[in-house]
Amino acid sequence: MQAFVLEGKELKNRIMEEPELEAHDVKIRVKSSGLNHRDLNIPTRRKFSKEPLILGSDGAGVIIEVGEKVSEYSVGDEVIIDPFTGWKENTPSPPDEFEILGMPSHGTFSEIFVANEENVSKKPLHLDWNEAGVIALAGLTAYRAVVTKANIRKNDTIFIPGAGGGVNMLAIKFASALGAKVITSSRSNEKRELAKKIGASQAISTHGDWKEELKHERIDVVIEGIGGDTFLRSLDVLKKGGTIVTYGSSTADTFQFDLRAFFYGQYKMFGSTMGSKEELTQMLAFIKEYNIKPEIGAVFPLKEARHAFEYLKESKQFGKVVLTNS
Ligand SMILES: NC(=O)c1ccc[n+]([C@@H]2O[C@H](COP(=O)([O-])OP(=O)(O)OC[C@H]3O[C@@H](n4cnc5c(N)ncnc54)[C@H](OP(=O)(O)O)[C@@H]3O)[C@@H](O)[C@H]2O)c1
Repeated sequence: MQAFVLEGKELKNRIMEEPELEAHDVKIRVKSSGLNHRDLNIPTRRKFSKEPLILGSDGAGVIIEVGEKVSEYSVGDEVIIDPFTGWKENTPSPPDEFEILGMPSHGTFSEIFVANEENVSKKPLHLDWNEAGVIALAGLTAYRAVVTKANIRKNDTIFIPGAGGGVNMLAIKFASALGAKVITSSRSNEKRELAKKIGASQAISTHGDWKEELKHERIDVVIEGIGGDTFLRSLDVLKKGGTIVTYGSSTADTFQFDLRAFFYGQYKMFGSTMGSKEELTQMLAFIKEYNIKPEIGAVFPLKEARHAFEYLKESKQFGKVVLTNS
């Protein structure tokens, strides 16, 4: 089967052997898969190995074979591949067995993927293949940050800097569906306009003076995914006693932090990482109820996955970058 792998330090397309099917497994012909910022970091995070590793955490497709003990799924069923294994219930943090697909185990950037039936979910009917292939990881991360951790309520005001990101785009849609007032930022004027179309009531420049522009707002919650370059500015616009959820760090992981300002402000801060199967199931029901679909920034065939990586690296997208696998 065709796959996109990291081999040594090289990212490339190559033929890989089809994985074997065990008793509780389903074999999926992958129709589409989604890039995440994480995929960009794997070449530097993985210890050097000549063993090819298939990248990718997100995907969706059609079941073409089932193991002898599979009970919930049949050939022909349309499914989303869970982007992780080893986290069932909604616990405060993931269990030790929690693993994201695409490192250390093989991921979804291939024509065929084999998963335990516990690690797939029925594809929501309102999503097309491109949308289904990109929803799980970003949607789950956004859902846990906005719903589980921040517990967003109707009429809360939420600030989500970085409108163009896959997770943030869904966080904007989720918070707005829950009746919150959503304010976002972007470095790009075009993306600021798009953000307003998907539910943001205001979109400011990431490089602007946030304190000045938001001086009449009472920000109850900030969802932070940009990281070190914006974290302190995000905290600075949060109301005293407000909540900041940090789930990502596209810029810097470390920076200086004024502890005194934080405890005087009586802020609450939550770290958040993806989510459990329980929340994934809730998120898929939630997007069905509110008819939410991910924005698709660009689509590339699997054979052009390297171009897709470059595209994501340059932050050109608004929303998710898709690969069509078969
Ligand atoms: N903890 C988890 O489970 C989890 C899950 C998914 C992602 N993440 C992390 O969360 C972050 C976002 O992920 P993603 O997949 O949504 O990434 P993405 O699609 O690449 O989005 C990157 C976002 O950051 C903004 N941004 C990037 N570089 C910036 C810079 N130098 N200055 C200002 N803004 C910048 C962009 O906004 P504009 O282009 O609109 O300006 C965009 O919103 C990444 O760090 C990723 O590793 C964590």
